[in-house]
Amino acid sequence: MRILSGIQPTGELHIGNYLGAAKHWAELQKEDECLFMIADLHALTTSQNPETFSATTFQKTVELLAAGIDPAKSVLFIQSHVREHTELAWLLNTLTPIGELERMTQYKDKAKKHKENSNAGLFSYPVLMTADILLYKSEGVPVGEDQTQHLELTRLLAKKFNTLYGNTFPEPKTLLVSSGARIMSLQNPEKKMSKSDTPDSCIGLFEEAEHIKRKVMKATTDTEKDIRYNLAKKPGISNLLTIYSLLAGVPIKTLEKKFKGKGYASFKTSLAGILEETVAPFRKKKKELETRELYVQEILKQGETKAHSIASSTMNEVRKKIGLLVF
Ligand code: TYM
Repeated sequence: MRILSGIQPTGELHIGNYLGAAKHWAELQKEDECLFMIADLHALTTSQNPETFSATTFQKTVELLAAGIDPAKSVLFIQSHVREHTELAWLLNTLTPIGELERMTQYKDKAKKHKENSNAGLFSYPVLMTADILLYKSEGVPVGEDQTQHLELTRLLAKKFNTLYGNTFPEPKTLLVSSGARIMSLQNPEKKMSKSDTPDSCIGLFEEAEHIKRKVMKATTDTEKDIRYNLAKKPGISNLLTIYSLLAGVPIKTLEKKFKGKGYASFKTSLAGILEETVAPFRKKKKELETRELYVQEILKQGETKAHSIASSTMNEVRKKIGLLVF
């Protein structure tokens, strides 16, 4: 199966991105043909500092490599390096009903949050995402739950294109992890963990042990004492149990038994330990990669070449099918 997924370069990779996406990517690359992309053009839908933006994009590449993306198995590239993404996005824009974009919850949330910069890019963001996916005729897209609505649009546009111009694109499947597709904020477990939220609500994948411990100990729970999974009544502790279970590879039921009668502090201390065990090797790898700039550049150049060769062949086909004048 050909797989494509992407991540925006802004903000440090957090355990939500990891458990909902990057960990899954690292597993998929063992069997499938994988392309992973840093979505720098998507990040421009909110304002970015031109002085630091390219460094941010480079840093995200380092983070993905440190978190387990293997350049020998996967194609890793920067979205803006393959110009065909924007070309296909434009063509797909002409097929996209405005109503479909208006109902996108992420657009509604972001337009509200960034009132001073509610731009057209924010509105047509899911169309660029669709172009990212269809350009490679991807069959599966591993993402967290917050992206599922965007992928419904992708399938709709693939179908519409195929009906109008002949069979061209597969309708890609959304590949969600069975657990962890929506890791919640540590401070407000009703909201998803997000890099744009307050620092205490989010654990970075490369954070130092003492920061992690402090954040976990401060995480919102409830007034009861028992460690029990109940999403409706105990969303905070349920979120922590999910994180623990995924990182340690232990079922939630086993954790409930293990911590029976032990209280939140003991559970949280143990979770902080598991988190540190997970992230310590990532931190080490990231530090090492930060000293190997040319090596990382080379990975991106090779990624661009491989991605571009697929993208240009798709676009040749698309231009002809749409009826653009091609010599
Ligand atoms: P982004 O950068 O917001 O997030 C990257 C990936 O992490 C997942 N994720 C989460 N999973 C579980 N719990 C959370 N709290 C959490 N927060 C984030 C996201 O679902 C995502 O899979 N639009 C995309 C990037 C993109 C893309 C694409 C993805 C651009 N083009 C094409 C797939 C295919 C985004 O902003 O992801």
